[in-house]
Amino acid sequence: MTTTTSPILLLLLLVSCRPSTESVSPGFKTRITSEGLTYANNVALDVLSKAIIGVSVPDQSGSASIVTYHLTGIHITEFNKPTSQVTLNPNGVYWSGSNAVLQIHGNWAYHTLFISDSGNFDFSATGVSFHEDIALSADTNGRPHIKASGCGVGIGGVSITFHGGASAIYNLFSSIVANEIKSALTGQICGIVTNLINTNAENALAKLPVTVDIANTFLLDYSMDEQPMFQKTFLESYHKGEFDWKSAPAPPPFQAPPLPAWNDTSRMMYVWASDYMVNSLLYQGQTHKFFAYNLTAQDLPAANRSALNTTCHTLLCIGNLIPQLQKSYPNCQVDLHMRSASVPAVAVTPQDVIGNASGIIDFYARPVTGSYYGNRFYKYSVRNTPAYLFTLNVSMSTAADVHVKNETIFGKLRDVKFGVKVVKTAIQDIHDKALQFIIDIALNTVVIPKINSIGEKGLELPTIEGVHFVNPTLMLMQRTLLVSTDLKYAP
Ligand SMILES: *[C@@H]1O[C@H](CO)[C@@H](O)[C@H](O)[C@H]1NC(C)=O
Ligand SMILES: *[C@@H]1O[C@H](CO)[C@@H](O)[C@H](O)[C@H]1NC(C)=O
Ligand SMILES: *[C@@H]1O[C@H](CO)[C@@H](O)[C@H](O)[C@H]1NC(C)=O
Ligand SMILES: *[C@@H]1O[C@H](CO)[C@@H](O)[C@H](O)[C@H]1NC(C)=O
Ligand SMILES: *[C@@H]1O[C@H](CO)[C@@H](O)[C@H](O)[C@H]1NC(C)=O
Ligand SMILES: *[C@@H]1O[C@H](CO)[C@@H](O)[C@H](O)[C@H]1NC(C)=O
Ligand SMILES: *[C@@H]1O[C@H](CO)[C@@H](O)[C@H](O)[C@H]1NC(C)=O
Repeated sequence: MTTTTSPILLLLLLVSCRPSTESVSPGFKTRITSEGLTYANNVALDVLSKAIIGVSVPDQSGSASIVTYHLTGIHITEFNKPTSQVTLNPNGVYWSGSNAVLQIHGNWAYHTLFISDSGNFDFSATGVSFHEDIALSADTNGRPHIKASGCGVGIGGVSITFHGGASAIYNLFSSIVANEIKSALTGQICGIVTNLINTNAENALAKLPVTVDIANTFLLDYSMDEQPMFQKTFLESYHKGEFDWKSAPAPPPFQAPPLPAWNDTSRMMYVWASDYMVNSLLYQGQTHKFFAYNLTAQDLPAANRSALNTTCHTLLCIGNLIPQLQKSYPNCQVDLHMRSASVPAVAVTPQDVIGNASGIIDFYARPVTGSYYGNRFYKYSVRNTPAYLFTLNVSMSTAADVHVKNETIFGKLRDVKFGVKVVKTAIQDIHDKALQFIIDIALNTVVIPKINSIGEKGLELPTIEGVHFVNPTLMLMQRTLLVSTDLKYAP
């Protein structure tokens, strides 16, 4: 008997939740449609077929008239799949099938006062039907669970053929035996169907990530704090979709915006990812001073490294653009201490994904050679302490291209624009051209590549192990990315 991860799970694919008060919107939501359930049902039947072949039925014995019989080694040899469907009702899922055919093989033996004999038999059950209720729920920790109940099995007709021995004797017990196997079979089939759900499917669900560790810094919380909802043509699960600071989880002081309605059910599955997800990440990062970086010449490509030299031998060099650096701080390299000044914001609209951020950059001149230039002493160089130069406020706005591939949403910045203002300075004459040059360096060597490298990794949507998206498409909606997809179970 083979049991693989039960496909019934497919029924559930992703489960998460929604904050408990009705007024709070989830940051992440999934919808599995009738199309999806029909596919899940086909997969489930394949798994059921594999699970059922080889299953043994308990030994039976009894007596009829003067005969005492024993049936042993009874096992299912063939299973012709039923026609089956999964339907939705307000409490969950109803799984049923009919017209399956089962073939069974076993050994018989009997004895009477005077004789005994043995042989084997073939048994077939036709018109086999089953039904089971399947409940999906979230527990108090926001974990999804699946549970089967109310299993019923019906068997239309049975027939039994004995091989070996004297046929006159069979007639004494054949109808009793047929009935006993039939009733034992009922329990076995219910056991298999229920086990598929309560064990296989439940185990697969248990592997669904409820929290995802991101770089050992953030936790992405997919927990469900609202129960799944069942409509006639789809079921939905509601998840928090929130990033927390791993070492001090606490929700941001804002809530997810309402998710846009979408009544299409032609694909197997839909996933709503609110821009709240990214904004909660940005909030946590800002609150815990995560968006800060000290850029030095070492961050530049080797060929361009001297761009931050104050003493210049090349054209592309900050000392040429701000002459006072050459004069007052020779033989230094300029460091940029960058930090985000307020919580960056991302908004998805039906037209585009846009973002903005504001930052502060403090500039320092760091001596890289001695404290003297010629025989002149420079105030900044006493303990090789970097000398403060000036501070810029930078505002940045950007758009982003997003797309979905397999189960992951990817993003890349586009049209990055910035405004810059000198807000404090210890030197004179900082020209716009110099600022442009500096900001180009900061954005192109650090800020944009770092953000894009996160976008290249992408956000992997949680799925049941072995379930893959087929032809997913991504649509921009108000405050939300909507992924529509078909599914394939390929363990
Ligand atoms: C689906 O939504 C669209 C626009 O929101 C609406 O025009 C249409 O009638 C809806 N269809 C159904 C079946 O509710
Ligand atoms: C940048 O350097 C300053 C001064 O050395 C230090 O206080 C700050 O923590 C550094 N920031 C980062 C992000 O490393
Ligand atoms: C190095 O500087 C040159 C000249 O400004 C520029 O064209 C090039 O893109 C820079 N290289 C890198 C890797 O930033
Ligand atoms: C830039 O400064 C570094 C460190 O002082 C030095 O090694 C390098 O030669 C300088 N580059 C140029 C082009 O002056
Ligand atoms: C620069 O940015 C900081 C932090 O956002 C802000 O407090 C300050 O007012 C800004 N200064 C100017 C001159 O805009
Ligand atoms: C940044 O984006 C947020 C959200 O879209 C918006 O409310 C805010 O006004 C924007 N700020 C700037 C400076 O553009
Ligand atoms: C993504 O899906 C394609 C087919 O849809 C498949 O060939 C490819 O291996 C998948 N890539 C990953 C990383 O799973």
